[in-house]
Amino acid sequence: MKIFIIGMPGSGKTTIAKHLAKSLDYKYIDLDGLIEKEALMFIEEIFEKLGEDQFRELETDALKSLNIEDAVISCGGGIVIKKENKELMDGLKLYLDTDLEVIKERLENDYQRPLLKKTTLEQLFDDRFLKYQDFADVIINNNYDVEQTVKVILNYLKHEVNQ
Ligand code: S3P
Repeated sequence: MKIFIIGMPGSGKTTIAKHLAKSLDYKYIDLDGLIEKEALMFIEEIFEKLGEDQFRELETDALKSLNIEDAVISCGGGIVIKKENKELMDGLKLYLDTDLEVIKERLENDYQRPLLKKTTLEQLFDDRFLKYQDFADVIINNNYDVEQTVKVILNYLKHEVNQ
């Protein structure tokens, strides 16, 4: 099974995906990392040199190229922008629901996302929250600590998903 972790930048997708993959003995895949390897550029450079639309194409290409099972895939925050991505995400789509206040604190110590140079977190969330809901098979709160969130996810998988 593939598990796609979606949510806002700073919602904790990478951390949760890594821990979840470890707990399940699944592979961990960072979709942005795949895009960077394919384009031979960092995400920031792709935005600067090619622009957001081209980045979104590369993001969809990366989804199409995923040829793997038993993996937890951490997706970029904007994966929900293109409706067609939903069909390409053939697995469990898990939305990490994290309060903007918590995200702001986490992002203070993190790298500057290219999109947040020209828009606010609130604006991004306003534009996207319905899309996250639409893509999600399950919504899991991630305001607290990693262990707690992973525990909730494992419990959900055990009871709700036939693996
Ligand atoms: C983006 C989020 C980033 C990265 C790119 C675009 C977005 O990933 O894919 O900068 O549109 O929200 P993270 O969600 O891991 O920060």
